[in-house]
Amino acid sequence: MIIRIEDAEKYDGKEATVQGWMYNKRGSGKIYFLQLRDGSGMLQGVAADGEAPDEVMKIAEELTMESSVRATGPISKHPKWEGVYEMQIKKIEVIQMCKDEFPISKKEHGPDFLLDNRHLWLRSKKQWAIQRIRNTVINATYEYFANEGFIKIDSPILTPSACEGTTELFEVPYFDEGNAYLTQSGQLYLEAAIMSHGRVFDFGPVFRAEKSKTRRHLTEFWMMDAEAAFVEHDENLKIQEELICHIVNKCLEINKLELKALERDIEPLKKVKAPFIRKTHAEVIEELRDMGSDIGEMDDLGADDETMLTEKYDKPIFVEKYPSAVKAFYMKRDPEDETRALCADLLAPEGYGEIIGGSQREDDYDVLMERIKEHNLDPKVFEWYLDLRKYGSVPHSGFGYGLERIVGWISGVHHIRETIPFPRMINRLTP
Ligand code: 4AD
Ligand code: MG
Repeated sequence: MIIRIEDAEKYDGKEATVQGWMYNKRGSGKIYFLQLRDGSGMLQGVAADGEAPDEVMKIAEELTMESSVRATGPISKHPKWEGVYEMQIKKIEVIQMCKDEFPISKKEHGPDFLLDNRHLWLRSKKQWAIQRIRNTVINATYEYFANEGFIKIDSPILTPSACEGTTELFEVPYFDEGNAYLTQSGQLYLEAAIMSHGRVFDFGPVFRAEKSKTRRHLTEFWMMDAEAAFVEHDENLKIQEELICHIVNKCLEINKLELKALERDIEPLKKVKAPFIRKTHAEVIEELRDMGSDIGEMDDLGADDETMLTEKYDKPIFVEKYPSAVKAFYMKRDPEDETRALCADLLAPEGYGEIIGGSQREDDYDVLMERIKEHNLDPKVFEWYLDLRKYGSVPHSGFGYGLERIVGWISGVHHIRETIPFPRMINRLTP
């Protein structure tokens, strides 16, 4: 019976076959411990002289790291390690012995070497754990929105206009139409879709020709945008709070082994409960200045400011009402202070910084037209978007999260390049 290692528990005391790769080996001559993995989990294969057939001992001796095998034998609980299962190998078949020594070994490798070998690095235990957490974040997101009555709408990737400012656009030649741009966010299209469905979300790759080489920036990343009709600023934050709590809870529930493999301290994650901390941009500026930052009153928060601020807290922080001058054209202004937007960024604690950007949207035709002109955007390309303010406009809000930033925070990894299978950065396009 071929089983998946994650099901080993059900075969305690019974014979089974697993197929996978040998990721590590200990022992010599008398006894070998072959660490086997099949994607679903890890199992310790034991080949002891006198108990295992000679043929098994011979293969155990010769088997090299990352060679693929099929092994059969009785399964039992590991005598000491909780949650780990063992197999006394009675039969082993080599599917492929590696042609060369596996390039990634137990010793320390530099980030460039690991990134050049990303196609192989993905097999490492921590990288395995991060992708499993990413999968949980994706599933938890779909689950939350399905339960809350949001339907998934797929927004286009090739677009005629910019959503988030024109300086970070990837251009693609597009037949007789001139240039198309790779999308920065599906938001504008979701605003059309809410007038049909009320509550919608999208989830897909987005592109930013960001010149920034920080640990928080990729040129291709995955964004989830959500948008809802009749939702105003406060309710917009409440949806984000619930979504993030749901995601973190799911990871704590499903990814215990993965978080342990990553040596992630889960105490701060357990504190991620509503209500989150809420501060205005003006309050945050004062706080940052008290901490020694030279940030200006109406400045956007820089990466260092976000790190400094969020290191102080163990709960996510909403920073509300940024100066409208540093935010996108579509954001509605705060009626109490026209210099500020009805927006919020959600910053993850422990130094991680912005994971969500969102706002209430400008729903008045004339005001929106004015903003488009102020931002030096071409009203012609936004005609369809302006139409949404002509035919039954309603108050509405939405937000977008960066999947890699959320996975980075939950996994506790420093640089988000480890959270996407094949990272794209200004100086990296391969593998
Ligand atoms: O704050 P941003 O630019 O917001 C938007 O694009 C809105 N249209 C979203 C919306 O309201 N529907 O981007 C949203 C999130 C950020 O909070 C951040 O988590 C992530 O996307 N992000 C990046 N992640 C990785 N690399 C980059 N270069 C990123 N730029 C933004
Ligand atoms: Mg933002």
